[in-house]
Amino acid sequence: MRQAGRYLPEYRATRAEAGGFLNLCYTPKLAAEVTLQPIRRYGFDAAILFSDILVVPDALGQQLTFAEGEGPRLDPVRDVADLGRLAVSNTASKYALVWETVQRLRQDLPKETALIGFCGAPWTVATYMVQGEGSTDQAKARLWAYRDPAGFQTLIDLLVETSITYLDGQVKAGADVLQIFDTWAGSLPDDQFDRWVVEPTKAIRAALKTKHPNVPVIGFPRGAGPMAGWYVSETGVNGIGCDTATPPWVMSEAFEDEDVVVQGNLDPLLLVSGGAQMDERIDEILEEMDGKRFIFNLGHGIVPETPPEHVAQLVARVRAGV
Ligand code: CP3
Repeated sequence: MRQAGRYLPEYRATRAEAGGFLNLCYTPKLAAEVTLQPIRRYGFDAAILFSDILVVPDALGQQLTFAEGEGPRLDPVRDVADLGRLAVSNTASKYALVWETVQRLRQDLPKETALIGFCGAPWTVATYMVQGEGSTDQAKARLWAYRDPAGFQTLIDLLVETSITYLDGQVKAGADVLQIFDTWAGSLPDDQFDRWVVEPTKAIRAALKTKHPNVPVIGFPRGAGPMAGWYVSETGVNGIGCDTATPPWVMSEAFEDEDVVVQGNLDPLLLVSGGAQMDERIDEILEEMDGKRFIFNLGHGIVPETPPEHVAQLVARVRAGV
């Protein structure tokens, strides 16, 4: 999940220096700096590239802004005609800046610290592109997909194609692992999940496997619930990120027949409240996953209210083991 962010004073300072969130994403020296900040503080085993999933629509040519405290705003695409404004040929200069960040990071990070590259899954990125902002129900994308599946497929295909280019460039620049964030996977009924979550992810995973057979891919189909096992077996991801609603016993049992590493799933709000309650839940997860191939992580992104010392407490607790 996220490591950098507003909960760290040094992040807020670098963001101010960059003059805004998107400038920070597109300034390799500063994006590398904010990636390294949490690694210096906490010594995590892996670093995640600092960028955002919405860099992809921005690079395709869809206007994007992040207003202070408001979240993303995009000039929405609502039908196939609107897709005429976007082109994969637009992406080169902006992707190059992200790849340069990856290159710097691979040089600056300790050798033993894995570098995770990422993109948003086509479905989740499409929900923002169609809605024009964050939403609780992703209704506009879901409706387009029902009313005009062939048109919506055009958007998804465009995202599959450009995500492959984007991730391939990240690996060439030095990423060791890739993660695909499907934050809104849980808003789809099973048949739609299959078409808009599983199929595009499978296509991206397959293309990268051909280009870079040894680079693992972690999927994060948030809210997939009982579809998570199907997601793993169909897409061929090497890691499965579990969300906060997944019970630890499900993390330990549901994927036993799959060749997959499980990642998860502390509630980021426990990291805000901290204390004995957080320690107890960490222990519960560690005990349940003892002896399994497991990556301790949050079940969703860290929130700005998180006291930095609670993260230090978490790291100490996890490192102490069960
Ligand atoms: O740890 C890291 O540094 C990783 C970088 C990272 C960010 N966003 C930085 C960011 C990653 C992996 C993401 C993924 C992302 N972005 C997702 C998928 C994961 C998830 O959290 O569900 C989504 C849906 C987005 C889209 C997005 N970006 C939204 C909705 C927002 C606004 C919400 C908010 O917290 O303000 C962002 C902004 C964003 N992306 C911030 C950061 C650190 C906060 C921006 C700021 O500095 O104000």
